[in-house]
Amino acid sequence: MSTFVFFGASGDLVAKKLLPAMNRLLKDGSLPSDTKIIGVSRKSWSDDDFREVVLRHAPDIVPASVSFVSGDVHDVVLPERLAKALSGQQSIFYLALSSTLYVGALSCIAETIKRGDMPDGSVRIAIEKPFGRNTDEAAELDDAIDRTVGEANVFRVDHYIQKESVQNILAYRFSNELFGGVWNERATARIEVFLHEAHTINGRGEFYDATGALNDVVQNHLLQMLAAATMDNPGQFSAARIHDARKDIFSRLRVAPHGLLRAQYEGYRETPGVAEGSETETFARIECFIDHPIWKDIPIILEAGKGLPERKSGVRMYLKQSGARICFDEQCDHEDVFEFLLAPEERTTLTVWGKKPGLVNALMPHSLTFSFSDVADAPYVDRSYDRVLYDLWRNDPSRFVSREESLAAWAFVDAARAALNATPLVMYEQSTLPHVIS
Ligand code: BG6
Repeated sequence: MSTFVFFGASGDLVAKKLLPAMNRLLKDGSLPSDTKIIGVSRKSWSDDDFREVVLRHAPDIVPASVSFVSGDVHDVVLPERLAKALSGQQSIFYLALSSTLYVGALSCIAETIKRGDMPDGSVRIAIEKPFGRNTDEAAELDDAIDRTVGEANVFRVDHYIQKESVQNILAYRFSNELFGGVWNERATARIEVFLHEAHTINGRGEFYDATGALNDVVQNHLLQMLAAATMDNPGQFSAARIHDARKDIFSRLRVAPHGLLRAQYEGYRETPGVAEGSETETFARIECFIDHPIWKDIPIILEAGKGLPERKSGVRMYLKQSGARICFDEQCDHEDVFEFLLAPEERTTLTVWGKKPGLVNALMPHSLTFSFSDVADAPYVDRSYDRVLYDLWRNDPSRFVSREESLAAWAFVDAARAALNATPLVMYEQSTLPHVIS
């Protein structure tokens, strides 16, 4: 029997992502029906109060399998209370908390393990992003892990790794000969990785103001999408090989001296929780290169922001124009593109030159599309958090971030932060896309 212990049980992540994911996993039998859920938070809730929350977001979960433990992570009585509440063979602690509480939570879990006399291998700890705010803080958290629960039990979460379309990039690249010939510097013109969101930061002012676009999504989600598109073939799908292949890309990333943009949407500073005169970026654009023989000199553009015209995220590989194309008349400026979209829908489109219909001897772009929603049995839902929880339960670390990967990603982001901070903060109107002024 397994127990999921959600720290931060009264927060948004538990309500909006983790509970609905638990609901689906239990409903479709991916998790055993005797799985238990314990919520932990500072709120002085009863079991029934938490069950009400669960009922709202996970209506199929049996209330008797849910309980609540109240306490602050620094509270000396919390480990005792938790140890008493835990009875299964396997405990999965999930830190859905502010990262400022991680060190306290890790000590609390270590103490709970001791008090509950939990055997080695029976405990997993999932830690949400952002994992610190820079290399130094990430290294401090790593030290805290070593002092408390041990690295072998830790799973650093980035739900973008678990997105269907990110895994699909690996499937396309490593399961089709077709791609081997073009997935390199000879055929690739540039790569774009983007996470555009139309919504603003409403309701998350304090968190976002201390975080910014670079730390919130570039250090993790964008770099993970980029890694899927550029990492070497790991040879086998083992956690160690995949972690190494991704780390290798991160440690070869170099910020380009151009194409940088740090911007903030107008009205951001009026959001509750945001500091007066805040310089936090709600949009970041970074150009970079990968010091790797396969990607040498290929521009990589990373772009993420909120308050933009539309929600769109994914990876686009633009191919160089083929010298051999039979372009008889107009339209010779079209580029072939491989697009792996995560939002607004999980869809892969290959746009290539094709025959223009009719009597003309000419070309036009043809789009070959596969959409995950077209093959779904029911209305399509993003199940990335389902896979996070499922992989935790089955103890598969390959789609989590390793310590070395995380540090390599931070080293790049520290350099990107320094380069971005040397540029002026540009203001943009909400629902518009800010542009680099050259
Ligand atoms: C989170 C960020 O990790 O990812 C949010 O903190 C962002 O700011 C979100 O909106 C995007 O995830 P998804 O799955 O909604 O695309």
